[in-house]
Order: sequence, then C-alpha cells, then structure tokens
Amino acid sequence: MAIFDSLEGVHQQIRDRLQAHQEALVQGRTEEAREHFQDFARALRAHRESEDDLLFPLYDGTPESSRPGGGLELLEAEHLKLGRLLQDLQRHLADLPDPLPPAARVAWIERERILKEVFDHHDMRERATLHPALDRLLRADPRLPELWAELRRRHREAGLDLPTLTELRL
Ligand SMILES: [Fe+2]
Ligand SMILES: [Fe+2]
Repeated sequence: MAIFDSLEGVHQQIRDRLQAHQEALVQGRTEEAREHFQDFARALRAHRESEDDLLFPLYDGTPESSRPGGGLELLEAEHLKLGRLLQDLQRHLADLPDPLPPAARVAWIERERILKEVFDHHDMRERATLHPALDRLLRADPRLPELWAELRRRHREAGLDLPTLTELRL
C-alpha cells in the first residue's frame, strides 16, 4: 500500500462517519445522529489540523502546488470553509428535538449538502495534488519515521486508522 492510498483511506473513514450520522438522521434518531456527528467532526478536525501542521509545509513549493487548482491557498481555504460549516451545523444540531419529525429530517439532509460537496471537492483536489506530491516526497525524506508516527498518533486520537510504515512496506 502506498502513502497515497493510506491518505485516501483516511478520507473514506471520515466519510463513513458522516454516512452513519445521516443514516441515524433519516430515521429520526436525533441523539444517535448527534453522537455520530461529533465523531465525524472530531475526525475531520484531527485530519485537517494534522495536514495543516505536518503535511502542508512539505507540500508548499512542490510542482503540484503551482499547478492550476493545486495551490496551497486553495487547500487552506477549503479547510477553513469545512471548519466554519462544521461549527455552524454542530451549534444547530444541539437544538434539534428527539425524535426528529420527518420534515426536519429532509431539511437537515439538505442543509448538510454543502458540507458534503465541499468535502468531496477537497477530497478530489487532494487526490490530484497533495497525495501524489507527498507520496513522492515522503519516501525520500529521512524525517519520515518521526513524521509518520506523529501523523498516526494524531489520527488515532480521533479514532482514525493509518497503517504503520512496516504495514505500508515502504
Ligand atoms: Fe486530507
Ligand atoms: Fe485536507
């Protein structure tokens, strides 16, 4: 497995949490939906912050980062947008009745559409730019073991799995 695949795997794990949240939501189970949303938000924040702190500094200045659509400022702007959307949804989720009436279920799924779209967009952008750049850079970086250990630690704290370097067989 490449570094590339393992980073995509993390995005999938985050997406699965949002899916679990929405499945509870469409069944009107507000409390359960809130818990799944907290898990999703915690995972997304941990991933986003570890990219900001550990991976974006490496990405800056790579050929991918100067391609159209690959600029670091675009990735950072999407992170900020995701953060704002998360905060807004979290605040309003706290006020929902349990069980959730059908009309409110529909309204909420619709309300979360923008967050999903931004997330999917960001996923595609990172797949095309950040992930291949990191895959190449990290293999050649002597700091890889420490960096990967820190990346794994921060993801695991939020319940996300990243394989070890041994498992990756680099
Ligand atoms: Fe990412
Ligand atoms: Fe990201």
